[in-house]
Amino acid sequence: MDTFADVVTSGPVHLSATDVAFAHPGRPVLSGVTLRVGLGDRLGVVGENGSGKTTLLRVLVGELTPSAGTVRRQGTVASVGQELNVPAGATVGTLVDRSLSRLRTVAAELDRVSGEFDHDRGNLAELSEVLARAEHLAVWDADHRVEVALSRLAAPADRGRSLATLSVGERYRVRLACRLAERADVLALDEPTNHLDDAGIDFLTAELLGWRGAVVVVTHDRQLLDDVVTGVLDLDPSVDGRPALYGQPGYLSYRFAKDQALRRWRARFRAETQRRLVLAERLDASYEGLSDEWRPPKGSQTNRRATRARTHVKAADRLIARLEAQAVEVPPPPRALVFPDLPAMGPGWDPDQGVIELRSPAVSGRLDLPGTRLSIPPAGRLLVTGPNGSGKSTVLGALTGAVALDRGARTTAPHVRIGVVAQEGRGAPGQVAAMRRVAGQEPGRAPSGFDAYADEALRLLDQGLLDPASVVPIAFLGLLSEEDLDRPLDELSVGQRRRFDLACALLAVPHVLVLDEPTNHLSIDLVDEVTRALRLTSAAVVVATHDRRMRADLADWPELRLEDGRAV
Ligand SMILES: Nc1ncnc2c1ncn2[C@@H]1O[C@H](COP(=O)(O)OP(=O)(O)OP(=O)(O)O)[C@@H](O)[C@H]1O
Ligand SMILES: [Mg+2]
Repeated sequence: MDTFADVVTSGPVHLSATDVAFAHPGRPVLSGVTLRVGLGDRLGVVGENGSGKTTLLRVLVGELTPSAGTVRRQGTVASVGQELNVPAGATVGTLVDRSLSRLRTVAAELDRVSGEFDHDRGNLAELSEVLARAEHLAVWDADHRVEVALSRLAAPADRGRSLATLSVGERYRVRLACRLAERADVLALDEPTNHLDDAGIDFLTAELLGWRGAVVVVTHDRQLLDDVVTGVLDLDPSVDGRPALYGQPGYLSYRFAKDQALRRWRARFRAETQRRLVLAERLDASYEGLSDEWRPPKGSQTNRRATRARTHVKAADRLIARLEAQAVEVPPPPRALVFPDLPAMGPGWDPDQGVIELRSPAVSGRLDLPGTRLSIPPAGRLLVTGPNGSGKSTVLGALTGAVALDRGARTTAPHVRIGVVAQEGRGAPGQVAAMRRVAGQEPGRAPSGFDAYADEALRLLDQGLLDPASVVPIAFLGLLSEEDLDRPLDELSVGQRRRFDLACALLAVPHVLVLDEPTNHLSIDLVDEVTRALRLTSAAVVVATHDRRMRADLADWPELRLEDGRAV
């Protein structure tokens, strides 16, 4: 969802939240969020998938109302959400017009005021004010800025083009280009680099660094955090239950400070546990003493001794109660990915034959590799890179068989099992809706992760693509908690749905994994874990990625670099 809210009040540009909380029905998401982003500040928001980053952004820009606390905005606000539901019939021009409408209003006002201005008796203050606003927004340059941004972000520039015919990535780039050209005072972006290639990210980085207002950016792109942000808000669990704000620029300083904080938290937890143990032992001893004192010898000062003993026990009891009330909780261990063992070979395979092979593949207008034999050997690796629209997804689709070839041939090893994470996978909103129809669920209710996973297993079993003995239980993978797996898929965050896609790709214990932009929407820590697992697995792996860190981490893999559908 995108916001076009105009919240123009006088005073310095800023966005602030004080003790903000938000809950979906029966599900608290945010609490105790306090922040302030002013002119020249660029706040990065990070956290595990499902920690509430998108929710926070939507609360900050006014799309959601906080259940507690206050949000203040001064200046105009423009946001680009993680997902967009395309309004029926909308075109590229619709988005451009929406973004530029305020600028056009200011331009028209300037025309009117200056046209009507009487040099002898005119209101100079009014003219200067409108002129200043028009200058601040550089209204005369607005259409040109849109053109430049569309072109630099490799977004379709034809204003008549229907948004429904664009890929998710193209749509995101159109939205981003419009919002950047709009020059709002507060810019709020949710995972902006997911759909950008290097040139696009360079453009975005420069725009953000030069932004004449405040920026809040949710991102898992470590390089972007390093290059752009002046502070980081981390929504992961913290010792005081409030999101931690790290005031240093860059990813590395944030990571260092966070690791230190976690270490202190664990140390405090250990010390408290120790103190509680000692006290509990003392209390036990006191109770023992008490039972002795209950049967004092006759004639002794029974009452006094019993009272003293009881006081003693009560004091120890109270101490323990106080300790427990003030106790820090154990830092929840980060969920760790458990990557299943995958096979390199199937029965009867020739180790010298590719698991999948493409010969001279061509897909009209998208891919043309004449004379190329693209062979993925057992346990082989391939990294597919290239700018937006260069044909990365088409090559991957040709390898998995999802995209039909117009020329050339595809062969596979017998009964090969291929695990696929598509760029917009099963968890994408449209896909969840389709699943709901297929599964015949009650209207309006998407299947839970557990149910959808079971459906997928049954489908693969029916097709003979799954060995029932080796199904990987989804909860075992450490991608989603059992609680989240019990929830309807459409209630999960985008990254949680992407985790579900990854689980489905592993379900059939594949011989080959084909992953299209696997870093998109996944949290920083999970990307690290997945990268490590992909380097180690016995299965063959094909990855298409624009992610700068992942490309560097896989730099020793054979690379297919594409440009305009051709290998370069
Ligand atoms: N409509 C909804 N109903 C119930 N719960 C929801 C709904 N939308 C989101 N949630 C839950 O709220 C929590 C926060 O979601 P949010 O989308 O803000 O996370 P996020 O940090 O942006 O995650 P990601 O990294 O995956 O984008 C998640 O647990 C999610 O499952
Ligand atoms: Mg999100």
